[in-house]
Amino acid sequence: MSSQRVRKVVIPVAGYGTRFLPYTKSIPKEMLPIIDKPVIHHIAEEAAEAGITQIILVTGMNKRAIEDYFDYNLELESLLRKDGKDAQMQLSREASDLASFVYVRQKEQLGNGHAILQAKDLIGEDEPFVVMWGDEMYMGKPTKLQQMIDVYEKYQKPVFLTMQCEKDEDYSRYGYVGLGEQHEEGLWDVTSLVEKPGKAAAPSNQAALGCYILTGDIFKVLETQEPGNGGEIVLAEALSRYAADHPMLAKQVTNLKYFDCGNKLEYMKATIEYALLRGDIGHDFREYLKGLSQNL
Ligand code: UTP
Repeated sequence: MSSQRVRKVVIPVAGYGTRFLPYTKSIPKEMLPIIDKPVIHHIAEEAAEAGITQIILVTGMNKRAIEDYFDYNLELESLLRKDGKDAQMQLSREASDLASFVYVRQKEQLGNGHAILQAKDLIGEDEPFVVMWGDEMYMGKPTKLQQMIDVYEKYQKPVFLTMQCEKDEDYSRYGYVGLGEQHEEGLWDVTSLVEKPGKAAAPSNQAALGCYILTGDIFKVLETQEPGNGGEIVLAEALSRYAADHPMLAKQVTNLKYFDCGNKLEYMKATIEYALLRGDIGHDFREYLKGLSQNL
């Protein structure tokens, strides 16, 4: 197994985002704003903070807004410079300077596993890389990615992010990992990954959510992955096969709040929680919510 450091992340952002229609007719869900930064900016920021230097975005039709967002906008910058608005100019560059950005296209939206496969030529055969979804946020420190990278760098094995999810509906929403030997508190060998098992058949209470540290050998598995239910090539299904005969770890991340921002209610929750933490508007927004709650 590779002893390389984790420097690359693949973020598929080519999906249709049907749960967020009609917004996603023309604007990618990854560009939904959390106050004044899109979800994908928060995700890229987390990656850069954890030492990632190359962000590979798998894009598709109608995703130009994402590419433009991570570019410099020279016209805007020259206007801001002329008006002496240096702080705004810095803000405008903030996302672009986080890392080097590489784009590959997914010509047909055949599933999140198929999207990741498009990055095959950009990752070495045994090179470690991160996969994160472009619409999931985890609030808190140390970040989920930092927690995962720390595990990878110590054990040199691919890692699943897990959280303890025990609501009845969770068991038909997430994949659950079978747990083998425990190495540390919240860190186990993975014996299996079962997609949406239902409560009775779940191998544990640890749900595998959307963040993985994988190695380049996953592409061979993805290449032979048949479309599953719904006709899509799904990463979790390929990982079920991979985990059956490759060592993998499950890392239960802690002190984090998880928001699936592709889901309307969770997106609203994320917006509110992030707004409450803001230095500029947090206090006033809290007072506003207190006033509202008296009328609920
Ligand atoms: P989701 O399954 O949540 O995305 O994939 P989706 O299909 O766009 O969403 P809904 O269910 O229709 O609302 C997680 C990530 O994988 C990307 C999405 O853009 C999202 O960031 N994805 C999904 C692709 O890049 N390509 C695909 O074919 C499917």
